[in-house]
Amino acid sequence: MSSSTFVLAATVAAGLFASTATAAFNAAASNNVAMYWGQGNAQIPLSQVCNDASIDIVNIAFVNQFPLKVGDYPSTNFANACGDATFTKPDGTKSGLLSSCPSIGPGIKECQANGKKVLLSIGGGYPINYTLPSPAVAEYFAEFLWGAFGPSTAAWVNAGKPRPFGDASVDGFDLDIEALINPAPFPDYLFANYDKFVARLKNGLFPSGPGPYYISAAPQCNVPDVRLASAISKSHFDFIFTQFYNTPECSTRAGYNGLSTATTTFTFTKWVDWLKANSLNKNVKLYLGMPAGVDGAPNDTPATLTPTEANALLKFYKNKHADIFGGAMLWEATVSAKNTKCQKGYSSWIKDILLGKFTNEVCPSSSSTIASSTSSRISSTSSSASATPTATKPTPDGTCGGTTGYTCIGYVLGECCSQWGYCGSTTDHCGPFIDCPKLNKQPVIVGVKLCV
Ligand SMILES: *[C@@H]1O[C@H](CO)[C@@H](O)[C@H](O)[C@H]1NC(C)=O
Repeated sequence: MSSSTFVLAATVAAGLFASTATAAFNAAASNNVAMYWGQGNAQIPLSQVCNDASIDIVNIAFVNQFPLKVGDYPSTNFANACGDATFTKPDGTKSGLLSSCPSIGPGIKECQANGKKVLLSIGGGYPINYTLPSPAVAEYFAEFLWGAFGPSTAAWVNAGKPRPFGDASVDGFDLDIEALINPAPFPDYLFANYDKFVARLKNGLFPSGPGPYYISAAPQCNVPDVRLASAISKSHFDFIFTQFYNTPECSTRAGYNGLSTATTTFTFTKWVDWLKANSLNKNVKLYLGMPAGVDGAPNDTPATLTPTEANALLKFYKNKHADIFGGAMLWEATVSAKNTKCQKGYSSWIKDILLGKFTNEVCPSSSSTIASSTSSRISSTSSSASATPTATKPTPDGTCGGTTGYTCIGYVLGECCSQWGYCGSTTDHCGPFIDCPKLNKQPVIVGVKLCV
């Protein structure tokens, strides 16, 4: 949809329009949904996320290994969206920077065409041994990410430097810093130099592109966050996507239970107070981060709220902190798409809640159910058709991908095949059960991965 069409429609009925079609992104809004995508062996296509009107920000996860010295390439992991191939560094050695992720570049453009912002997330939960050892490495890392994933420039491309997503350009970067290394590689490794990294991007590099560009962080719910407090205090963050899960005392469940008590261990208000006192950006927006279903926080299943519970929690804190409340963050896209009620994914319930349109969880009557299921079938067919990737290394029997789920064919050839047709031999492609040799077992082909 063109932006001129949007302007016309928006003047007619902005609120009504937002849930059904493309809306322009508003960084200052209090009803945004930020969604992670890119981890887990059975990720839905990015294109499906891009065609979901309930999502405003897509965090592509993760750049999971950082440069140790100036000149290093970082490593990436986007699960089954990529093949195994990686870029070779100028010194001729292999990097861990994936070079074959054919759906991500087009996906970024599709998301942006649909009014969403796409951020590239650095860090994550595996492995957790990344650091920024010096200001020089931090600034080099910022420059590398900008060159590789920001606006494509002739200078960068002509120098033979990598563009993992082609000429697609992200709208900024997200810091999901969860490092923990024992023994500590240097005393302040948990938080050192992230402020330098952010400042180089925000002040030095972002102004050179068309923008706007954004920086976000996804801290844990304890206040202050040991890894990100320093960077948030010293450099400019636009959005804070606090993870109110996996730490039960300050989780969404504690928040929901606390709604009916005088005191609560839920820390949303503490986060607000801390940001107001400490954030360098006084207009920073705080998002309430939640699991998008029990598979999003399998070690903290009570943190997954029903839509009715989420409505009570989000409404309360949106009203209480209207000046700083930015919306909800959800981990993550595939969990959300599978966690449906009345044929609506979890993010659609959350978006309706943030728009003040939630009434109850009762599914519509059968006639409207049929109508909505027909239209969702049509749209899912067309979105999966446009998303169907080409296998980077088609397996000889031609059954790579397809409709049967994980097809463990090709294992004898050293490859597995993800649901969406990407071949590789990592657990991201093969899932956790495919390491047959380790288990001293043989793989079999039954349409799902199995060892016997
Ligand atoms: C971090 O851990 C990964 C996975 O075990 C390993 O491949 C990598 O070399 C480690 N990086 C550092 C900097 O220690």
